[in-house]
Amino acid sequence: MINSYKPYQVKEFNLSGLNGISDQTLDLHFKLYAGYIKETNSLMEKISEFYKDGKVDQEDMPAYSELKRRLGFEYNGMMLHEYYFGNLKKGGGGDPDRESAFFKAVELSFGSYEIWKADFIGVGKKRGVGWAICYQDPMQERLSNHWITLHQMGNVAGFNPVLVLDVWEHAFLLDYNPAERPKYLEAFFSNIDWHAVERRLQQAKNDQASATGR
Ligand SMILES: [Fe+2]
Repeated sequence: MINSYKPYQVKEFNLSGLNGISDQTLDLHFKLYAGYIKETNSLMEKISEFYKDGKVDQEDMPAYSELKRRLGFEYNGMMLHEYYFGNLKKGGGGDPDRESAFFKAVELSFGSYEIWKADFIGVGKKRGVGWAICYQDPMQERLSNHWITLHQMGNVAGFNPVLVLDVWEHAFLLDYNPAERPKYLEAFFSNIDWHAVERRLQQAKNDQASATGR
């Protein structure tokens, strides 16, 4: 008995009225996100056809390999957008609570919130399209900021994303010109849902505790 593949569904995010990120940008962005779900489901369906008879035939290997290659892009595109939309909210922003686990982890990892933020923004300003992600490192219980090219290159296996920033140009081009990415980063920070970030970090710590018995 196996769990059959259940197609992913588009999630709803109520983000209307954000600061510096227009509803028009969000509408376009939600449509792009829905496209990743559609492609993920379509690829999974096509791939499952190849192994229905219990094997992938050698002559099918090039087509099968290409679908598998594309799957990493589509899957990560779907998931990273859900993290991104999920860490924004109308009325968010400001600095995280100084008593929060996130703030304490930032201080332990970087020395201060200001240094962590400078590093995260530095990653967000990198040339090219991709993502800036603050991960929790479950082995060292530290936070670290990483650059992810496209959607799939640079993700750190086993690390838990706690804050995810989309810096593909579609995320801001209707509101800012390409050279104004720093303004978009400012707008992003003024809408962060720090409670969502805190929940992710706590969830990661709980998962870790139950896995290690600590
Ligand atoms: Fe995006």
